[in-house]
Amino acid sequence: MANVVVVGAQWGDEGKGKIVDWLSERADVIARFQGGHNAGHTLVIDGEVFKLHALPSGVVRGGKLSVIGNGVVLDPWHLVTEIETIRAQGVEITPETLMIAENTPLILPLHGELDRARESQNSVAKIGTTGRGIGPAYEDKVGRRVVRVADLADPATLATRVDRLLIHHGALRRGLGLPEVDRDGLIAALSEVAPKILPYAAPVWKVLNEKKSEGRRILFEGAQGALLDIDFGTYPFVTSSNVIAGQAATGTGIGPGSIDFVLGIVKAYTTRVGEGPFPTELFDEDGQRLGERGHEFGTTTGRKRRCGWFDAVLVRQTCATSGVNGIALTKLDVLDGFEELKICTGYELDGRMLDHLPTAADQQARVTPVYETMTGWSDSTAGARSWADLPGEAIKYVRRIEELIRCPVALLSTSPEREDTILVTDPFAD
Ligand code: IMP
Repeated sequence: MANVVVVGAQWGDEGKGKIVDWLSERADVIARFQGGHNAGHTLVIDGEVFKLHALPSGVVRGGKLSVIGNGVVLDPWHLVTEIETIRAQGVEITPETLMIAENTPLILPLHGELDRARESQNSVAKIGTTGRGIGPAYEDKVGRRVVRVADLADPATLATRVDRLLIHHGALRRGLGLPEVDRDGLIAALSEVAPKILPYAAPVWKVLNEKKSEGRRILFEGAQGALLDIDFGTYPFVTSSNVIAGQAATGTGIGPGSIDFVLGIVKAYTTRVGEGPFPTELFDEDGQRLGERGHEFGTTTGRKRRCGWFDAVLVRQTCATSGVNGIALTKLDVLDGFEELKICTGYELDGRMLDHLPTAADQQARVTPVYETMTGWSDSTAGARSWADLPGEAIKYVRRIEELIRCPVALLSTSPEREDTILVTDPFAD
């Protein structure tokens, strides 16, 4: 049986929600392996809108197991609220349908405060984070001082963990002019939320390995996009986790050999939220049109997304670093009606041609995109369900993308509706 990893192959917001939902119907287990509630997925099922941030998309589908892996950072209070909201919409969430890895690090209020204080005080290198404490929580994980889900079960361990954490944060907060953390208040708040989280705690690595042995299909649901990866993204304008497909293994405790298919989600143009380099960014009417037609506003922060032409250099790179077997191309219909479309095929830097994005930040900021111009199409691609429904120029655009990124299209999504999907290769096929 095939296990599939879904990763965003640009800067996030590629339309993963719909594809993950589409695939999750065919999966038995859906697992998150990185990120936290900085992510945002909107799912529309039978007319009902579900907004998910921390919960795996599988929770809204009956009969599936949803899993939050150790690679995630989890805000327990946010999770409790999200569970209550989704439950109020009639979805059943129980320890049989949701499991949280016992070794998952917790995001505490002090992480969000630190994230926001840094962003507001750092005029030199503002990242444009979601302000949800993601980066500071990952720092504490690597710093070996974070509170993890399993620590909630034992009051003595919890107090020791909090004390260790506060030695570090006390010093930081004094430097930033933030008030001292109320230690006893924090422990009391954690003790209060503990009984709401602990019923879901499980050795997720073991459960997933058992499911694998039973031949169950596992869908690993990535958040953000590969260009926000802590190692391979546009550092430091990145998120604080590994986003690329290899993280599905370390972020859940299943071996890398368990991954059979990597599906990269790719938008037919490019967007980015927050600061950082963006070679094909548009500041003209075309950019504005992409934003308006594509409804490019963040699900989590409501921020307007920056928009630009399709960058084949970047997607070729992210397909390589994630080992993408096939892409799901989304939002092609947003390009309907453009007379001409541009695709970036390479960069020019100091008189040299580059076939990849350089690592040095100053070079990333200075590369000039080299474009190929393609004829647009006037007919609508929205709602197309087969290649025959697509205008010839749209097919040429898709084929050219495949060629440039050296990766085939497995799925083509032509509207937010689940049914408006052209299936070329089934990622779950044996
Ligand atoms: P953080 O993940 O909140 O630390 O934010 C770091 C960077 O990642 C910022 O540029 C955010 O805008 C971006 N980011 C984080 N999560 C998402 C997402 O789900 N979609 C798009 N961008 C994101």
